[in-house]
Amino acid sequence: MEDKVKNEVRDVEENKAGKSEESSDDFIIEGMDIVRTFKMGEVHVRALGGVNVKIRRGEFIAIMGPSGSGKTTLLNQLGLLDTPNSGKIIIDGTDTSSMSDREKGKFRLHNLGYVFQDYALLPELNASENVYISLMMQGKSKEEYEVAASDILTAVGLGDRIQQLPSKMSGGQQQRVSIARSLAHSPRVLFADEPCANLDSQTSKEVLDLFQKFNKTKGQTIVMVTHEGWHAEYADRVIKLKDGLVES
Ligand SMILES: Nc1ncnc2c1ncn2[C@@H]1O[C@H](COP(=O)(O)OP(=O)(O)OP(=O)(O)O)[C@@H](O)[C@H]1O
Ligand SMILES: [Mg+2]
Repeated sequence: MEDKVKNEVRDVEENKAGKSEESSDDFIIEGMDIVRTFKMGEVHVRALGGVNVKIRRGEFIAIMGPSGSGKTTLLNQLGLLDTPNSGKIIIDGTDTSSMSDREKGKFRLHNLGYVFQDYALLPELNASENVYISLMMQGKSKEEYEVAASDILTAVGLGDRIQQLPSKMSGGQQQRVSIARSLAHSPRVLFADEPCANLDSQTSKEVLDLFQKFNKTKGQTIVMVTHEGWHAEYADRVIKLKDGLVES
């Protein structure tokens, strides 16, 4: 009984001080001691040398660091696009380390979204088809995926270009299609690797404003690699890499 009272007093005091301990539930991604090496002939390149990261639900994270510091490699591990040599990655409570490639593929399709520097749109498909292809693969009905594609394309400001081919669009418009595609299935985490690298600063701002809108209004968790300090200002927190390790 006395212990219970003591615990309650401690809880109240910690809450007042704003430092009640965070539990695993608060984190949507936990990466523990992630090591990734690449073999180049006889040489082993250590791209990640034991990285620990924790990302909270709804956080907008920027990953920064010099070229070759391991940013893309880290994003690919956290996004299950690659497999580390060792370490553990837990996404929304699911330990992904023991998943087979097939299970990872399914997990990615349902739970994760990706935006790449070069948009990675399929050139022969129009905006709507590029967006709904993953919903189709998830087994949604035609009506469901067509409406969802139209809604999300409207949300990224392309409501009037639903039937347009990527080749008829500017870089900024193509990147907005790719953002719509990445968000159409309401992923738990959106991963973006230098999404503005091929865009001028005005168009970059429009893309970052979109990320911010989905982060603030929908609580979308975003992990974005960037080289630019002003891009990182959109993020809640910066993870800085140096030589395959977290510097700060
Ligand atoms: N597939 C691969 N095969 C061999 N080495 C690789 C491979 N991918 C990455 N590396 C090496 O791992 C290190 C980290 O690369 P990574 O692409 O993660 O860096 P980065 O921080 O994203 O750089 P950049 O800013 O240029 O995109 C580099 O030394 C790179 O040469
Ligand atoms: Mg990179």
